[in-house]
Amino acid sequence: MAGSLSADAVAAYRRDGFHFPWRLMPRERALRIGEDFLAFTRSDVARRYPDPQNQLYLLKAHLIFTWADAIVHDPGLLDAVESLIGPDILVWSSGVFWKAPHSGAYVSWHQDSTNFELDDAEGVVRAWVALTPATLANGTMRFAPGLHARGQVRHVDRKAEGELLSRGETIDLEIDEAATVPVVIDAGEVSFHHLHTPHGSGPNASDQPRVNHVVTYVAPKVRPIRGADSAQLARGQDRFGHYAPEPRPKADLDPAALAAHESAMALRNAIIYRGAPLPQAPRHAEVWS
Ligand code: NI
Repeated sequence: MAGSLSADAVAAYRRDGFHFPWRLMPRERALRIGEDFLAFTRSDVARRYPDPQNQLYLLKAHLIFTWADAIVHDPGLLDAVESLIGPDILVWSSGVFWKAPHSGAYVSWHQDSTNFELDDAEGVVRAWVALTPATLANGTMRFAPGLHARGQVRHVDRKAEGELLSRGETIDLEIDEAATVPVVIDAGEVSFHHLHTPHGSGPNASDQPRVNHVVTYVAPKVRPIRGADSAQLARGQDRFGHYAPEPRPKADLDPAALAAHESAMALRNAIIYRGAPLPQAPRHAEVWS
């Protein structure tokens, strides 16, 4: 397959279910994006939202923030993604995940395939972009290598205090922690993982926040199993039409972008929270009126 990752990197990804580190941008630029993001979360605008994590950052940040749009469409990143899923690439989601200093927030062991409802995991890759250094101390993600080869494993919903997963969906499999691999990477570096790769993360025991932007790319042939969905073309062509197209933002939180984000989130939340309580859906017009 074409693209910019080396044959060894692609082989490691296929064997282990992940590959890192891969440098996307200089450290200083990534740190600045992370700092700007954290400043935004403290702004009056963000405070207008009762649940800003769900309403602004979680699933489709690239539809409303130009910095996130620039990352998901970065030609270098797309070259690397092309090595893993081919030359036709859609952005299916992108979300910012952060853990405050000394936050007890954690993520249970899970496979992302569990609630994504996509029919072909081989055509999907998640790019985990570090906007601060990701360290053992600040609760970086860990992978269980090789277990993606088992395909989808049963999960049980165990939503508990501090759990960041939407439904607390936890893998029903004994994970040997000693055999797991922590994603220790610098700000500006990326870790790629397969949709079936089990992963989780612990609390942030450090004095610094941990911020990362996770982008999910899909090949257009990948079908959403649960009906209507939308995505944004990043490279090549969509010859399948499984996803309604999404527009790129012209400016941060511009009215057209907010309207597109609200429509896209309504479709996606209906899929992800199927059978579970829906989070408060975005109501940008009410917030901004
Ligand atoms: Ni995950």
